[in-house]
Amino acid sequence: MELALDNCMLLEGDKLVLKQVVINSGKISEINEVGEQRQGVEFIYCNGNVLLPGLIDAHVHFRVPGGEHKEDWISGSKAALAGGITTVVDMPNTSPSCTTQALLNEKKKIAERDGLCNSFFHFGASNNNAIELEQVHGIISFKIFLGSSTGDLLVTDEEKLKKIFSTAKERNMVVAVHAEDEEIIQKNIKKAKELGWNHAKYHSSIRDNEAEFKSIEKALSLQSEIGNRLHVCHVSTKEGIELIRKAKQDEQAVTCEVTPHHLFLDESATEELGNFAKMNPSLKSKRDVEALWKGVRDGTADLIATDHAPHTLAEKEKNYWEAPSGVPGCETLLPLLLNAVNEGKIGLKHIIELCCENPAKLYGLKGKGFIKEGMDADLVLVDLKKEIIIENGNLFTKCNWSPFSGWSLKGVAEKVFVQGKEVGP
Ligand code: DOR
Ligand code: ZN
Ligand code: ZN
Repeated sequence: MELALDNCMLLEGDKLVLKQVVINSGKISEINEVGEQRQGVEFIYCNGNVLLPGLIDAHVHFRVPGGEHKEDWISGSKAALAGGITTVVDMPNTSPSCTTQALLNEKKKIAERDGLCNSFFHFGASNNNAIELEQVHGIISFKIFLGSSTGDLLVTDEEKLKKIFSTAKERNMVVAVHAEDEEIIQKNIKKAKELGWNHAKYHSSIRDNEAEFKSIEKALSLQSEIGNRLHVCHVSTKEGIELIRKAKQDEQAVTCEVTPHHLFLDESATEELGNFAKMNPSLKSKRDVEALWKGVRDGTADLIATDHAPHTLAEKEKNYWEAPSGVPGCETLLPLLLNAVNEGKIGLKHIIELCCENPAKLYGLKGKGFIKEGMDADLVLVDLKKEIIIENGNLFTKCNWSPFSGWSLKGVAEKVFVQGKEVGP
């Protein structure tokens, strides 16, 4: 049966206009003037609320297999829908890491069975899966960790990196990098231990600006030698975003993303939140945050992606050295961004580019990211005036805490449609 979302606001150019969006067999079949009458069509009246393309979160860790106590596809996708996200791209640093076709197929089966949203997959590039990289299908990028983080995916050997970049080039595949320099991190860890540091407030001195700068520089230099497409995940520093701006000016094939936590928090949050604000890359200074916003505004940042990386309360309550890095981010994504729209920090058009259109284009996600006839009916109806308070213990993510707990935000997802079906929030 057809479904008509009537009286919803769509962004056309720079203007919001009232329209009717008709959905048939999971796709957007027509965009009509408001109020058009049709026989045999179910109507949903949208009260003039804004309809956005469902958000695409190009960077999540849903923890299957091996970390189901932190998140699984049921809890993770519910958190996604609450945050206006209809498509997620899952990362490979699971247990075991997703570095073979067989493991990928297994993960896809589970995502298909349990997930309430659309799913795509990054594939892990390791020190010993060169053949798999040549043959694997059903993925959208090769993910490399240039600095160690959660999981066992770290590649630092120059020759191996070159081989991975070359295979990506041959296959027109994006190389997505976690860019932090392992040598600098290890040197800083040694120093921190000598000084007896044991608190998340030192995390940004260990995973420092130089570590990110050096690593992005290296990735850019490999890209320029080999000519593949490069995507820098979660840029967190002024130096990093400036390096990427310069590379783009020089027409290098590079894109990058920033996370909500690096945009809305700075390193001072670690004083109070401790390990609940410990993630890699670390939160940086206010100066860095400003530079990231500048990068968002001038188009240096291509995407906003959450790096949703849940860990349990018990894991986070360990001492600094033992507590894992990462924070959940899916269900706070849209409220944080809509609140920023309400505060005049960013425009809706820009959010659609960063969270819908650009990720769809970058990763070639067919049918996604745009409200147009023929596209998938992945949609989110938002209420820009409704306020919510983010609260630990009252969340969909299995870890059930958020670094934004206590924040009052204006702007939420009212209804979420995945391939034409109302599924949330
Ligand atoms: O903070 C992080 N957590 N950074 C990463 O690179 C990995 C992630 C995780 O999987 O926990
Ligand atoms: Zn990462
Ligand atoms: Zn990540």
